[in-house]
Amino acid sequence: MHGPGYLDRYLGEYCLGSIMDLPVKPKKKKMTTKKSSSDDKESLSYQHALTKFAFKAKSKKQKLTQEEKEEQERLKNAENKPPLGTILSINDFEYVAKKVLPPMKLNYFNSGSDDELTLRENRRALSRIFFRPRCLIDVSKATTSTSILGVPTSAPFYIGSITGSELIQGEGEFLLTKAAIKEDIMHIIPQESGVSLDDITHPDHCLFYQYRFKSRKEVEDAPKLFAEIEKQMPQVKAIFLNSHVVGLGNTEKANKTLINSNSKDDEVSKILKYKLEEETTPTLLTWSDFEKIRNSTNVPIVIKGLQRKEDIVKACELGFQGAIISNDGGRQLDSSLSTIEILYQTRQLMNKKQLSNKKDFELFVEGGFRRGSDILKALCLGAKPGLGRGILYSEVYGQEGVEKAVRILKTEILRDMKLLGVNHVDELNENFLDTSSLDFRFNVNGGHDDLYNKNYTPMLAPHFKKA
Ligand SMILES: Cc1cc2nc3c(=O)[nH]c(=O)nc-3n(C[C@H](O)[C@H](O)[C@H](O)COP(=O)(O)O)c2cc1C
Repeated sequence: MHGPGYLDRYLGEYCLGSIMDLPVKPKKKKMTTKKSSSDDKESLSYQHALTKFAFKAKSKKQKLTQEEKEEQERLKNAENKPPLGTILSINDFEYVAKKVLPPMKLNYFNSGSDDELTLRENRRALSRIFFRPRCLIDVSKATTSTSILGVPTSAPFYIGSITGSELIQGEGEFLLTKAAIKEDIMHIIPQESGVSLDDITHPDHCLFYQYRFKSRKEVEDAPKLFAEIEKQMPQVKAIFLNSHVVGLGNTEKANKTLINSNSKDDEVSKILKYKLEEETTPTLLTWSDFEKIRNSTNVPIVIKGLQRKEDIVKACELGFQGAIISNDGGRQLDSSLSTIEILYQTRQLMNKKQLSNKKDFELFVEGGFRRGSDILKALCLGAKPGLGRGILYSEVYGQEGVEKAVRILKTEILRDMKLLGVNHVDELNENFLDTSSLDFRFNVNGGHDDLYNKNYTPMLAPHFKKA
């Protein structure tokens, strides 16, 4: 049921098994409800890393290179993370992740494509939207509970499909699913995750599945596969099909880190070969393929990765059950619009075509969501948001970290709902927003954002040969 792990192919031996703090990649495991904490697997792996580092370290008399000093500092940080109780926001998780993850992994997670204009714009555009709170409203019944594609959930957001969890902690996506069960929120399992869908499904928990076609054969086989999922895994409540299938964006920062850390030419060429293959063998896929697939199953089909209001309206008019507005976290075509802005434009077009209240079509949005207030902005514009990196970074504290991240967001949403003067997310609409700065793309403070900049990793420069 599963394609080969994306990470295996992308990072290959450079990461899996070679980076010092890397725990073992999970093999076919059945899910248990046992809680894994940041104190067991994760810190054990850091301990292991420290020992290995000490073994490799030069004697005190020898001078450490800058790189070695940074690595020593990172390992020290990993052993002395701030207590989880002192982490108060998703930004805090990102800050800690930046300090404890090896650069190659960190930059795999945080890299956008090319010059990262879209990556940054996803966040900047959110800060161009302001609230218009209602006062003197009884908000004593305020709740974050709602439903997504008919599934009741305790929060109006979900954990997006993100591969890479196994680079942070040993359980891979299992851990995210366990945290999602504990916090009663929805999670999209990526097709290219380190663990298979059969293994990750839990009898008591509904989830979503994301699928990206990599060959024409997979497109032809999809109806059979999805029929099997429908029959054998009723917990899978929707399938999210990626529409950006012609290749991955150029995640240059990640590639540079990879190249700089592995100087042997044959290794570098292996990476480039992989990248080239991705770019020159696009899967031929059209709207009619998606329609055929949608007609072949009763599982709701949601299209992921649409980036034009016209395409989203088309998906709605063709009868798909939903669409995710996504630029893959700024990792696809650089200079494409921020997702919140596409959502804003889509909402206007849908209002015009009287499609906004269509009950059997749900809108989702991903890219840059880090705060409860960001989530509320999307909800006001009619979409439920999904979180990517924000949740990934919280994994540096194990399952407890992810649960805490989700709770932080729920608390922020609930507090802000009360401040906005609403009891239920269904009450939210554009009326609660002032979007005038979005229209002429004005950012307060020239767009300078201290919190964001503190966590942002700038593009790397090529390394000179050692003299
Ligand atoms: C490291 C990483 C891995 C990802 N893996 C996948 C994937 O396997 N399938 C997919 O559809 N999207 C994938 N995405 C995109 C996310 O689902 C999501 O759209 C994006 O991360 C949202 O932006 P954010 O990270 O700013 O929240 C990935 C994103 C990142 C950063």
